[in-house]
Amino acid sequence: METRIDHITGGIHRISTMTEPYGITFNQFLIDDERPTLIHTGEYDSYEHVRKAISEVLDPARLAYVALLHWEGDENGGMDRFLADSPAAELVGSSLSITLNAKGFGVHNRVRGFTDGETLELGRHTLRFLETPHVHHWDSMMVVEETTQSLFPADLFLQPGDQPPVVDENLGDAMCEVYRQVGIFAREAPVLQVVDRIEALDPEWTHAMHGGTLTREALPAYVKALREQPFGYQGKLLGREIAVDAAVN
Ligand SMILES: [Fe+2]
Ligand SMILES: [Fe+2]
Repeated sequence: METRIDHITGGIHRISTMTEPYGITFNQFLIDDERPTLIHTGEYDSYEHVRKAISEVLDPARLAYVALLHWEGDENGGMDRFLADSPAAELVGSSLSITLNAKGFGVHNRVRGFTDGETLELGRHTLRFLETPHVHHWDSMMVVEETTQSLFPADLFLQPGDQPPVVDENLGDAMCEVYRQVGIFAREAPVLQVVDRIEALDPEWTHAMHGGTLTREALPAYVKALREQPFGYQGKLLGREIAVDAAVN
C-alpha cells in the first residue's frame, strides 16, 4: 500500500492510498492554512502513512482541526492518534456525530459539532457545513470550502480503482455499480435531495473520498448517473448477498 500526496488546488492536498480488498482509494484531504485542517483521518492502521504524507507539507503537530463527515472507520478511525499527536487539534463533525458518537465513545474534550450553514475560519479558507442525513449515515455531513469553491462529499461521487488526483472522465456507471454491490445507501431519495443541492452549488472541485477529485466539467455526468440509475441497497453488503427473505422490496 503506497500513500501519495498531491496538491489539488489553493492549498488543498489529497492523500491517497489504494486499499484492497475494496478496490478503491481511501483519501484524506489536508488544507494548508493558519489553522491546518485534515478532512477524514483514514483508518486506525493507516495513521503512520497519513501522518508521514502530511509531514511532506507541514508539521502534523500543527493540525488545528480534524474533521469527520460521518462516524466510520475510514472517516475517523485515526482520530485518537491525531488528537494525541496534535495537542491543539479539535475534532470537528456534524452536531449529531459529536453529540451522539464522540461523546458516546468517550471523546468529550476538544470536540465541536456543527449544524447546517455554520462556518469555520481557517485563515485564508472558510469551511461551511451542510447536514446531509442518510447520505450513507444519519450523522452525515458535507463540507464546502468557499475560497476554492470546493465540496467534500465523503462517499458520494466515488470512483473505483486507483484514480489520479484529478478526474474528468465519466465513471458514473461504475460509481452506481459499486453502490449497488456495496450497499452503502439505504435508498435513493435522501441522496437525490442532496444531489439537487450540490447541483445548485455548482462546485469547482468535488473532492471524493474514494477516487479522484472531480472537476466542475466532470460532475454533471455523475449527477445524471445518480438520477437515472438505481443505486440504493439491493440486498448486498460489500458484494455479499444477505440471506434474509424479502429483505428488499
Ligand atoms: Fe462512509
Ligand atoms: Fe468512505
